[in-house]
Amino acid sequence: MLYDNIEIKNGRLYFAGADTVELAEKYGTPLYLMDENKIRERCREYKSALDAFAPEGSCAIYASKACCFGGIYKIVAEEGLGADVVSAGEIFTAKSAGFPMERGYFQGNNKTDEDIRFALGCGVGYFVCDNFEELDALDRIAGERGVVQKILLRVTPGIDPHTYDEVATGKVDSKFGIAVETGQALEAVKSALSKKNLSLEGIHCHVGSMVFDSDVFIRAAAVMLGFAAEIKKVFGFDIKILDLGGGYGVKYYEGQGEIDIPANIKQVAEYVAGKSNELGIKTPSLRLEPGRSIVADAGITLYTVGSVKKITGYKNYVSIDGGMTDNPRYALYESRYTVVTANKADAEIDLTADLVGRCCESGDIIQPAVGFPADIGRGDIVAVLTTGAYNYSMASNYNRIPRPPIVMVKDGESRVAVRRESLEDLIKNDIL
Ligand code: LLP
Repeated sequence: MLYDNIEIKNGRLYFAGADTVELAEKYGTPLYLMDENKIRERCREYKSALDAFAPEGSCAIYASKACCFGGIYKIVAEEGLGADVVSAGEIFTAKSAGFPMERGYFQGNNKTDEDIRFALGCGVGYFVCDNFEELDALDRIAGERGVVQKILLRVTPGIDPHTYDEVATGKVDSKFGIAVETGQALEAVKSALSKKNLSLEGIHCHVGSMVFDSDVFIRAAAVMLGFAAEIKKVFGFDIKILDLGGGYGVKYYEGQGEIDIPANIKQVAEYVAGKSNELGIKTPSLRLEPGRSIVADAGITLYTVGSVKKITGYKNYVSIDGGMTDNPRYALYESRYTVVTANKADAEIDLTADLVGRCCESGDIIQPAVGFPADIGRGDIVAVLTTGAYNYSMASNYNRIPRPPIVMVKDGESRVAVRRESLEDLIKNDIL
């Protein structure tokens, strides 16, 4: 099926070698499943491509906003990746899981003084500085603590990655970073170099998410290296690190585009080396920040059907026990997914219905116009595939619905990695 960790046996959907119907019975639904071997395989793909083709010191940084919980930081740490963290909450989760914080990269366009103090206290390796105010604040607070903090400067290269607007972040008018085109990024370099408690290590950009065009990172690298050459010319300063962000796309349904990530990394690394040579600057080491492509196909979500509503002459609905609270991506971006009826996985598909959640709003759609077996009904198990990225991490308690657990599957064995939220969890901060 869609990925090699998905198969159909005896009419049932298997994921990572385990029978999903049995897992639904054992742990209840809604249920996030994650395939540990797949996460490790994806980490290794990045690591081996960068080790093979990029200069020494290059590495992949897992963008943990894609899926953030203690256990994942442990896996990523073991696989030798860094971690992109965007809040005190992500930093705290990583640190509590024993993640080596010197491999942390603190991102974000508005780090408060409190965030900065917290991150410095946790020993986060790099700050990816987004704006002039942050440079001033970080310099001041690092000075108070008597440390010199390593930073990258986030700039916008003015690249349109041809993806959807909510996730396109590298354009000149983005809320993130400082524009190269307007000359403001060069001003920011001047500011960073003048600060005695900051050590400018390199430059960063992130053009967007769900990138399939193989030239996007090369176009970004071209602008970034041109900027590095300007920095060299104006300040006589060589950047050590070029961070090209994340964004590689993943396949959510058959027929969707694909990108060969290791091959693209090779192309990008060769381009960076060649272009640096041509521009007379030292070849910087590379950073890539994959989130989605590390975890997306390592996850699926299981639900139990509650009702099948056939509105004669109009349309059909299959309602499940989860919804936009555990997967808001269709509601937000009209994202497409592949859906399988897990306990009737090889039955003929002859009913078309919208797969909808249990929240009190019509926009609570997981996927419109899905094919189901004609006899689908209450108690059947529905699986939504490729939900490992931006599902759990974007889940909410809307309608006071508890978040599902994450069960990690490895070699056919399963264990709870995040427990199911309880009703008590939902009221624990309420003061009467
Ligand atoms: N680096 C930076 C600075 C980022 O902002 C992001 C994602 C990444 C890396 C990782 O990008 P990825 O490899 O996952 O494409 N909630 C949206 C996606 C938002 C992406 C935000 N930034 C979704 O569900 O599609």
